[in-house]
Amino acid sequence: MTLTKTPHKKQPIGVFDSGIGGLTVANAINRHLPNEEIIYFGDTAHLPYGDKSADAIRYYCLKIVKFLLERDCKMIVIACNSASSAAYNVLVDFFPGEAIFVNVVDPLVETVIEKDYRKIGIIATKATIRSDVYQRKLREQQPTLKVAALATPLLAPMIEEGYFHNKVSQVVIENYLSNKNFEGIEALLLACTHYPLIRSDIEGFFGKGVEVLDSTLFTVKDIENRLRKRDLLNDEKRKDHQFYVSDYTQSFEETTRLFYNEHLQLDHYAIW
Ligand code: DGL
Repeated sequence: MTLTKTPHKKQPIGVFDSGIGGLTVANAINRHLPNEEIIYFGDTAHLPYGDKSADAIRYYCLKIVKFLLERDCKMIVIACNSASSAAYNVLVDFFPGEAIFVNVVDPLVETVIEKDYRKIGIIATKATIRSDVYQRKLREQQPTLKVAALATPLLAPMIEEGYFHNKVSQVVIENYLSNKNFEGIEALLLACTHYPLIRSDIEGFFGKGVEVLDSTLFTVKDIENRLRKRDLLNDEKRKDHQFYVSDYTQSFEETTRLFYNEHLQLDHYAIW
């Protein structure tokens, strides 16, 4: 893809999700590419995306990306599987050449293909499972791969409310994962950016026999490769990251602080 504007290294990276899930990706960018400035947008006014129609998600994404492009982002990271599944192609078409677009689905699909499994499981929001994007992309590249896909709609709102690593979350997780279709899987894909926050609970459920994969690190590698290829990696000290939410809630702020170590200033931006 040719960029119409000439981007420069110091421009920020825009990262967005429905809520705190995308912070798992932002956090990984911050650790692996510490010179990159991040502008994060959590669309808390519309959380959870997983229950919305594809058209509604596309509409939210168009507005958020416009907001991030107005803030001069060189790259837009759709740090949400539901949004990546529903809106990635639309965004690339709607903003041609205005920034580099990264989704969280493709890096995970590529990893699965490289590993050459026979049977895998996928857990994600209803929107992601219904879109069939993972199943279709995997089928196209490895038709013999068996895929057991399960929508787990309680997980993202539960995590957003700070319910993880406790008795309530354990019961919900066990209930989902004991699904019969997951028998014999070699790997489980956490196809929602909220789920790395309950990764240890999921690993605990399956034990060593099942590899648990999420897209965070593979997405950051993809981001790094794409910026390097265009000579757009920032090699100087960055400005402070900026964090915006479309609806301020105390639980969002508290949950955010739980796993984002740096001091974090949340701004409410009335995009809607
Ligand atoms: N973190 C999101 C995802 O990866 C969405 C969760 C939600 O808002 O339903 O799908």
